[in-house]
Amino acid sequence: MTNDAEMRLADRYGPWAVIAGASEGIGEALAHRLAGAGIDLVLIARSEARLRAVAGDVEARHGRDVRVLPLDLTDPGMHRAVAESCRDLEVGLLVYAAGSVNRTIDFTDDPYEASLRQVQLNCIGPMGLARALSPAMLARGRGGIVMVASLAALAGAAQIAVYSAVKAFQVNFGEGLWAEMSPRGIDVCTAVLGQTWTPALERTGVTYDPGTDMLAEDVADEIIANIANGPTYVVGARNQAIAARVWPDRRTLVQMIGAHTSAHAARTGATPSSTTAAGSTLGASAI
Ligand SMILES: NC(=O)c1ccc[n+]([C@@H]2O[C@H](COP(=O)([O-])OP(=O)(O)OC[C@H]3O[C@@H](n4cnc5c(N)ncnc54)[C@H](OP(=O)(O)O)[C@@H]3O)[C@@H](O)[C@H]2O)c1
Repeated sequence: MTNDAEMRLADRYGPWAVIAGASEGIGEALAHRLAGAGIDLVLIARSEARLRAVAGDVEARHGRDVRVLPLDLTDPGMHRAVAESCRDLEVGLLVYAAGSVNRTIDFTDDPYEASLRQVQLNCIGPMGLARALSPAMLARGRGGIVMVASLAALAGAAQIAVYSAVKAFQVNFGEGLWAEMSPRGIDVCTAVLGQTWTPALERTGVTYDPGTDMLAEDVADEIIANIANGPTYVVGARNQAIAARVWPDRRTLVQMIGAHTSAHAARTGATPSSTTAAGSTLGASAI
C-alpha cells in the first residue's frame, strides 16, 4: 500500500478502530495492517494474555496506541461495556472478525447452548457493536463498519446449519446498514471469506493446503482495500468465482429492494432524517 493510500485510510477510518476478535487469525492480521496505516486500536478477545501479546507486537512494529479489552462477545450487554470503554475515543472503524465455528455436527447433536452462542457471537455481537459505535460515526459523517462473514452464507449446509445461517444474517444485516449509512458517509462492507489458514482453522484438524487456503495477511490486505466496495465483498479470485455462480450483483439487488423499503418508510413517516436525529444523540446510556 502506498503512503498516500495509508494516509487516506487513517483520514477516513481513524483515528481509532475497534477490532472484535483480534488476538489471532484474521483479526490479528487486520490489526497489523490498520496500525501500519496509522490507526490506533482497541483490541477485543477473551484471552487477556494473548491480547496483550498482540498489542505489544503491534505497538513495537507500528508505533500506534493500542488498548486491550478482554471480554466475551457472547455476553449480553457487552456492547455497553465496549461503548463505555470507547467513550473518550473517536472510533472511525468497527471491524467484527470473531465468529468461526469449531466443529461440524448435526444440529440436533450439538448442545442447544452451542447454537445459541453462535447466534450471540455472529448476530447479536455485530448488531450490538454497530449500535454502540455507529451513531458517533454518523454524526461525524465518516467512518466504516466491516463484518467478516463466510462463503457458508451462500446456502444452508449440512453439519453447519446454524453457522451458515448466522453468516447469512451478517450479509443481509451489512447490506441493510450499507443502504442506510453509505449515503451518510459510512462505508459498510461484509467481507465474505473462503477457507483461510488461521489458528482457529488449524484447531479443527485441517492441514494447510496452499491450493485452497488463503493466508490471513492476504485476506486482511484485500479486506482493507475494499472497505468502500460494499455492501458485500467476496475475498479472493477463487471465492469470487464460486460466489458468482449463485449470487447476482448484490449491490444492485440491495439498491432495488431498498428503494421500495425507503419509499414505504417515507410514506409512513419513518424517514431517514428522523432516524438521523434519533441516532446521532444516542450515547452509551441509551443502548
Ligand atoms: N478461517 C477460515 O477458514 C474462515 C473461513 C471463512 C470465514 N471465516 C470467518 O473469519 C472470521 C475470523 O476467523 P478466524 O479463523 O480468524 O477465527 P475466529 O475464531 O473467528 O477468530 C479468532 C479471534 O476471535 C476471538 N474470539 C472468538 N470467540 C470470541 C468470543 N466469544 N468473545 C471474544 N472474542 C472471541 C478469539 O480470541 P479468544 O479465543 O481469546 O476469545 C480470536 O481473537 C470469522 O468470522 C470466521 O467465520 C474464517
